[in-house]
Amino acid sequence: DDDAGAARFAELLANEHRVEPTDWMPEGYRKTLIRQISQHAHSEIIGMQPEGNWITRAPSLKRKAILMAKVQDEAGHGLYLYSAAQTLGIERETMFDQLITGKAKYSSIFNYTTPTWADMGSIGWLVDGAAICNQVPLCRASYGPYGRAMVRICKEESFHQRQGFEILLQLMRGTDAQRAMAQESVNRWYAPALMMFGPPDDDSPNSKQSMAWNIKRFSNDDLRQRFVDMLVPQAEILGITLPDPDIAWNEGRGHYDFGELDWAEFHEVLAGRGPANAIRVARRRTAHEEGAWVREAARAYADARSTERIA
Ligand code: 3HC
Repeated sequence: DDDAGAARFAELLANEHRVEPTDWMPEGYRKTLIRQISQHAHSEIIGMQPEGNWITRAPSLKRKAILMAKVQDEAGHGLYLYSAAQTLGIERETMFDQLITGKAKYSSIFNYTTPTWADMGSIGWLVDGAAICNQVPLCRASYGPYGRAMVRICKEESFHQRQGFEILLQLMRGTDAQRAMAQESVNRWYAPALMMFGPPDDDSPNSKQSMAWNIKRFSNDDLRQRFVDMLVPQAEILGITLPDPDIAWNEGRGHYDFGELDWAEFHEVLAGRGPANAIRVARRRTAHEEGAWVREAARAYADARSTERIA
């Protein structure tokens, strides 16, 4: 019954054990996980677009092969995550529908455009870097299917981050024009990447409960700080300037200070009014509609196989 289930759930959390799909769980826990995992899945799927934009124009065959593999990894991450969300009782079609009708949230970062090749470097270094910072602690999320998906995803994200860093390093070792392209791109991606961690702690309605449930392990601001501390020495190696004059080592705190972010811009992007929100959702809807025949064919094949087995 519910009381025994609740006691067992509390015990699992207290002992840092995983909660599995067949275990009793509070409705709020289930809803929070469906919200976070589906948003995360949507982010991976929408996240294919800004980089997909450069596959045909990558500067060499090698770069093209790497970029294709990376975008494919993102599709894979989206699929694991949709599967993890399905174990909580939501249908995949429902999640797809929420995404293509613009009802679902996905990461703010993918509503920015990628006008230059250096943006492939910035996405890898900054966006995937932020994703790793956020996701490594999620490997310990209390919900089994989510935590286990994160382990594999994080391994691939580390490769993505390194390839982005390496693109920027090559550009910084190139001509003046290439160095300027890298710097200009980092200037555009830096602040939006910091916003990926979500609103400041005082303005984060879900954090406290998600931390109590061992879903989130660190607050949004703590992870953002960790990310800035990681970026500063890497920017020095690259010879790139982070576009924030307030970045300074704070001996007392043992961390880098950094400037306020433009939270009005963040809320505009979340409200669907970022630079590329409309394009991203429209393109996903078109891809979904154009893929209808594949889903139909797969269903027909599966039906034929099951009739064969019965006969
Ligand atoms: N973009 C869009 N929405 C965001 C956001 C962001 N960067 N940050 C916060 N929000 C939304 C939240 O979803 C929440 O909205 P909701 O209640 O309607 O769902 C609201 O803003 C308030 O924020 P909270 O801090 O209270 O919300 P959370 O506790 O859920 O924390 C989070 C937000 C840190 C993003 C958390 O959900 C999380 O860690 N999610 C998993 C990681 C993830 O989704 N990453 C996606 C980007 S990385 C990626 O996809 C990899 C790349 O390689 C493609």
